[in-house]
Amino acid sequence: MANPLRPAMLAASRSPRMARTITGMSTTKKLVDRFVAGETEEQAVGSADVLLGSGRYITIDYLGEDITDIEQARDTVAHYQRLLSALTALPVDDTENVRPLEVSLKLSALGQSLPRDGHAIALEHAHAICDAAAAAGAWVTVDAEDHTTTDSTLSIVRELRADYPWLGTVLQAYLKRTEGDCRDLSGPNSRIRLCKGAYREPASVAHQGRAAVDESYLRCLRILMNGQGYPMVATHDPALIDAARRLVEVTTRKSDEFEFQMLYGIRDTEQRKLVTDGHHLRVYLPYGQQWYGYFMRRLAERPANLAFFLRALVPGNR
Ligand code: FDA
Repeated sequence: MANPLRPAMLAASRSPRMARTITGMSTTKKLVDRFVAGETEEQAVGSADVLLGSGRYITIDYLGEDITDIEQARDTVAHYQRLLSALTALPVDDTENVRPLEVSLKLSALGQSLPRDGHAIALEHAHAICDAAAAAGAWVTVDAEDHTTTDSTLSIVRELRADYPWLGTVLQAYLKRTEGDCRDLSGPNSRIRLCKGAYREPASVAHQGRAAVDESYLRCLRILMNGQGYPMVATHDPALIDAARRLVEVTTRKSDEFEFQMLYGIRDTEQRKLVTDGHHLRVYLPYGQQWYGYFMRRLAERPANLAFFLRALVPGNR
């Protein structure tokens, strides 16, 4: 079912005033805990340990986006460096081609939107995180944000891949340009995470409505599965997961030539089932204090989440 409140929720996800109100409410915490693995690095590593123990792989995101001050960006880099160092303590089997440990990062948290030199600053910061990841035996994937950042993000990813050929990136099926990007980026050794897309985008650049986005996802998935890279199928949608399974058969991909990905706290039973069926399943595990934007996008995705949240605000329901 389409969510009529989605545009308003996504607009609220970028409002500093709403952020102050909602993050200050004690009633929000229970629902936030469903989607966010905690505020500290220790909590994130603890959750990662549990997920790895269940046969799942992980990609950890230190939450934060759209920073306005270079000190915040430097702080984000330091957080990732500490996190990657802490992850080396986890027991992982890194003898396979696929690395169980990964971090995901948003370039807007590394300074991409700072006036003057934002692109160069984000590139330098991402470089430092990739160095730390290489030392920790982890992969890195660069998240996709709103469409105004796509060109800059893909150009930074291209530059970084010269030094870190295992670097992955995210493409959003709702963007009209993405089929073309899938064709350009599905060459040997590429790692592309395909998701539907979580931001509020205008009809000039993005397919609107569920059916159009799902059809675009399928077209993009076909290109990636028929390409030479490593597709990362990031969706909870049962129809798209089935389509991916069928494409894997048709293209005779082996289990270490693609993976499924889902978000922490969503469809846990399905996550475990995919692992039992012999697939690689990676969980996107966010942590940190800056959870507001991420949390609001999760609410916007599903009317039931929003209803639950609104009910929790009513005093008698707490
Ligand atoms: P859809 O929204 O149709 O959901 C299918 C089913 O999944 C629902 O019916 C429900 O059962 C369940 N579900 C989905 N969302 C839920 C929620 N919030 N709460 C409870 N149940 C839910 N986006 C982006 O723009 N840039 C990015 O970098 C990323 N990165 C990313 C990484 C990974 C690993 C994943 C899985 C997703 C992203 N996304 C993202 C988010 C993505 O664009 C999209 O918004 C969500 O995955 C929801 O879309 P689905 O494909 O799951 O389908």
